[in-house]
Amino acid sequence: MDPINGKTYHITTFGCQMNEHDSEVMAGLLSEAGCQPAASRDDADIVIINTCSVRENADKRFFGTLGQLKKQKALRPGFIACVCGCMLQQEHVITAVRQKYPWVDVIFGTHNIDELPDMLRQLEENREDAPLGNEDLIPDAEESYTLAKHSIRSARNTRVIRTLEDREDIVEGLPAKRLFPHKAFVNIMFGCNNFCTYCIVPYTRGREKSRRPEDILAEVRDLVAEGVKEVTLLGQNVNSYRGEGEAGPWDFTDLVCALNDVEGLERIRFMTSHPKDLSDKLIDAFGRLDKLCPYIHLPVQSGSSRILRKMNRRYTSEHYRELVRKLRQMVPEITISTDIIVGFPGETEEDFQETLDLAREIEYDSAFTFLYSKRTGTPAAEDPDQIPEEDKHRRFDRLVEVMNAISAEKNAAYVGTRQRVLVDGASKKDPGVLTGRTPGFKLVDFPGDQKLIGTFVDVIITEGKTFSLTGVLAEEESASKGGVS
Ligand code: 5AD
Ligand code: SF4
Repeated sequence: MDPINGKTYHITTFGCQMNEHDSEVMAGLLSEAGCQPAASRDDADIVIINTCSVRENADKRFFGTLGQLKKQKALRPGFIACVCGCMLQQEHVITAVRQKYPWVDVIFGTHNIDELPDMLRQLEENREDAPLGNEDLIPDAEESYTLAKHSIRSARNTRVIRTLEDREDIVEGLPAKRLFPHKAFVNIMFGCNNFCTYCIVPYTRGREKSRRPEDILAEVRDLVAEGVKEVTLLGQNVNSYRGEGEAGPWDFTDLVCALNDVEGLERIRFMTSHPKDLSDKLIDAFGRLDKLCPYIHLPVQSGSSRILRKMNRRYTSEHYRELVRKLRQMVPEITISTDIIVGFPGETEEDFQETLDLAREIEYDSAFTFLYSKRTGTPAAEDPDQIPEEDKHRRFDRLVEVMNAISAEKNAAYVGTRQRVLVDGASKKDPGVLTGRTPGFKLVDFPGDQKLIGTFVDVIITEGKTFSLTGVLAEEESASKGGVS
């Protein structure tokens, strides 16, 4: 009898779409092992916290959530607490968890997700007969990973820790329990080679590895057969995709072109692009491929070429402007979003002004703005020229004000237009209101029947707000006009 069969689980996910998808894979693995999703975290037999380490506040939220689990651990015998994801790729975090939260049962990193059921079984099988006393099994010098099993004297707990610094292979064929039946994330590559000087990701996700194009195509065809209409291709820098195909290497555009021919697939999106690798070939594909949505997330990080150099971004703000010009020339209606970091070490008022100028000039549809956050182990964290917190916050507030005004203006321009919307679900606040996305990834709310979820509908936009659009179903709009006249 499988010791985890029949248990219920709950996964809390922090961070990016890669993490969201990792959680979908974990849910898929647990379902295959006979586990069921719990109604809430409080009811779950197994709780997994999938962490993000990109910024400091993600760290804080993780430790806050972990603190809340302690009660559950104390009250429920047999309860299993697991922590995983980018934070647990860092030695100092593993040490902190082991010291401050010794009741955590399972710790694993981003390269060990496929072993989740096995780790839980190992935990359960050792639970009853774990000897008293501290016992550190392994680490084995022959193994590239650390595997430690601890029996903690007082709690008689058994713990499993599995982390790998990196791994060469890509595990194919893992199941995923997807958040939506009609749209899916598809990893096309893992890791990052760029080493932007502020960023922890290359240390937590390892070096870039691309999946084989045939494997990606097969996955997408299977998804479409299951009813998926939209795929989002995921990678830290999808523009540097290099897949080893049977007949030779494929770049990202080759992959998107092949996916465009998949019958039944209706929309293709991708995340995230690095400006230094965005090719003319891909820009051209935006003009040709009917399924490639007219939307790009193109993180600029700063409008100052001096700061971009310090960030090791390997493009200038002029090059970035040129990319946007070409994209808009190819697809005038394309929507563009970005990431901007405020208060990077050494950023002067003039550098910041250049960021504001660039943001105003590009007129982004939306932007994710971040206060620079020191990440242990990255070069920028060692920079003596750190910006005082008050200055960072002041600049941040000014930037957000500018960005929000632009977003609101851009969204207002949609009023009266007809948008093809893929309906994602109903609003949590009002089940009579549906939400979906336009081709340009704008969020739209409109009244409608829940049976429309997962279908495409035409919506006439009636209002543009800062972060979303509001509309009415086109048929209802024309019906009401018909009634009046
Ligand atoms: N501080 C602030 N923002 C960061 N990002 C990455 N690392 C940091 C950091 N140390 C932001 C970048 C990136 C996004 C995912 O997170 O803007 O594009
Ligand atoms: Fe981090 Fe830069 Fe890689 Fe993006 S491209 S994940 S910001 S190192």
